Amino acid sequence: MTRHRVIFQPSGRRGEVEDGTNLLDAARNLGVDIESICGGKGTCGKCKVRVEEGFFEKDAMDSRMNHLSPLTGQEMKFLKPSDGPAMRLACAAQVQGDVKIFVPEKSRAGKQIVRKAAKELTIAIDPAVKKYFVEMQKPSLAEPITGDFERLRGHEALREALRRQAGLDGLSIDFTVLRDLQDAIRKGNWGVTVTVWKGREIIKVEPGFVETAYGLAVDVGTTTVVGYLTDLATGKVVNTESMMNPQVPYGEDVMSRITYAMTNEGGVRKMQKTIIDGLNEIIAKATKDLRANGDLSGKKAGGSGDAIVDLTIVFNTAMHHIFLGFNPEYIGRSPFIPAIQHGIDIKARDLGIKINRGSYIYVLPIEAGFVGADNVGVLIAEEPYNMDETVLIIDIGTNGELLLGNRRRVCSTSCATGPAFEGAQIKMGMRAAPGAIEKVKIEPATKEPLYKVIGKEDWHTHVEKIDAKGICGSGIIDAIAEMYKAGIIDKSGKFDMTAKSPRIRRDHDGKPEYVLAWADETSIGADITINQADVRALQLAKGALYAGAKLMMQKMGIEKLDKVILAGAFGSYIDKESAMTLGMFPDCEIDKVYAVGNAAGDGARMALLNTAKRDEAEQRARWVEFVEIAVEPNFEREFMQAMHLPHMKDRFPNLKKLLEKAASPVVING
Ligand code: FES
Repeated sequence: MTRHRVIFQPSGRRGEVEDGTNLLDAARNLGVDIESICGGKGTCGKCKVRVEEGFFEKDAMDSRMNHLSPLTGQEMKFLKPSDGPAMRLACAAQVQGDVKIFVPEKSRAGKQIVRKAAKELTIAIDPAVKKYFVEMQKPSLAEPITGDFERLRGHEALREALRRQAGLDGLSIDFTVLRDLQDAIRKGNWGVTVTVWKGREIIKVEPGFVETAYGLAVDVGTTTVVGYLTDLATGKVVNTESMMNPQVPYGEDVMSRITYAMTNEGGVRKMQKTIIDGLNEIIAKATKDLRANGDLSGKKAGGSGDAIVDLTIVFNTAMHHIFLGFNPEYIGRSPFIPAIQHGIDIKARDLGIKINRGSYIYVLPIEAGFVGADNVGVLIAEEPYNMDETVLIIDIGTNGELLLGNRRRVCSTSCATGPAFEGAQIKMGMRAAPGAIEKVKIEPATKEPLYKVIGKEDWHTHVEKIDAKGICGSGIIDAIAEMYKAGIIDKSGKFDMTAKSPRIRRDHDGKPEYVLAWADETSIGADITINQADVRALQLAKGALYAGAKLMMQKMGIEKLDKVILAGAFGSYIDKESAMTLGMFPDCEIDKVYAVGNAAGDGARMALLNTAKRDEAEQRARWVEFVEIAVEPNFEREFMQAMHLPHMKDRFPNLKKLLEKAASPVVING
């Protein structure tokens, strides 16, 4: 029977199915959860999925609408124009050729947990956008004619306040806002609240006294997008909204999106529209509650995003270029030159971003071809340039970005870790969602595992069925570190097939694998395993990080790290001991290794709340020295050595102590 390839996004799960299999069954076979309240009868309309059309070079797949059976009358009942083009009901569409399918958020049964909660920041509140209440003298016929804007601009108290804030004595007004001015002034009985950007330009006018002003700090990651709705007066995050990056169907990593842009006509525009639509969705969701709570700024504005008067945004350079509609081609090939390095202020409306119409967005500066505004966010949030100790900051995402140094000198680099840390490219990998195995322990003597699944309180004891579906990034790191500690794999990552356990076996193709969960413990009806290819994918990812750190250390003449900071939401969920056991970074005292959460997002929040932080970002982005590690003559050798667990040659005295304490049989070079 003919078989066809199917890829589901955003999970990245893929496999072959027989001709005529419907997409719902294909999804189930591949461990992808799609809502199907009617059980696939075609009567609930919940299983809507989108066909991604085009040639996807990375997957060598030509995905077409007509690779599915023709649209049925039943489907037409449920598919609305507002669903967008290329939608199908998964239970009705049969696979007749290779297809790439995107499962929209609404149709996903196990909703993704985006772990990017905002932490408390300590920062002086001095935002770029401020509100001022101005009470003006009513005009009369007895005085010379003064226009509404001139009357406002000439108001002494406002002039004084702006002089204090920005040292400026001239004020302009956004042209579209000027249209509101006459009515606002009169509605407020000559009392009006003006929102001023950087002491220079009026970007909003509201009748009467309005106190609250909101800003949105946005972090666009390769895989997830998060927006922090922030009260600009208090600095408090009032709402956090996140989503999978809707560009994922165009490529899971940065390089494949650049390739998509280069090989598909209108590719940049298409991806730009996708991310801007996504951001607008975040804006609408983040501000929806404001109106529900009866907040005035939301209600009066009439449009949900109008309550937002400022927006800061960080991303890696490829996402930056695509977002702004620049051609990302030149940052994708040597010598990796970006269109612009400085930060940019852009009218939000010029990009179609639905916040207050007169507002600007501030795009943080970028460092180099592959070290983006997100790393500048990390830089200004963690301030290694104010530290005496030598610190290595690892921002673990689909692209790994590193900062190393102290107050004397800081270097940065990026390494292509790929999405393995996020569960992609791992056979049973999945995003962090209910049902994902997130923590693992393996008993060295028996090789029996214990694991914890997201959404369940307790560790699995093999007594009850726990409905595991796959393994997320933190689970993979734990599992492979534990497999190494238990002697299931050796230093080179190779399986030891002599170990006596039914869990260590060969798959259908004769390749070694370890069974983490038996089929009857899972909700996918199949064993959850880690195979040799998974171990290799993780070794490649961690090897890239380690080699990057090591080469930077060599360049800077640093022999020992005083501190390791794990940035990125993912960094907060990985076990630091497991990370060190694998050799994701050079040896360091374990107490000096800590996670700081989404530091890139923290940087965006700081730039939102404090203008001086924007200046700091501009200066420090130019001060940091970028190191291109891929062209270093030692790179290949370092990378190869770093593929070993924890490393082929380097000494790990701190890890050695730890493992000795835990009575692990593994011998570490101390
Ligand atoms: Fe209900 Fe497809 S599963 S309509």
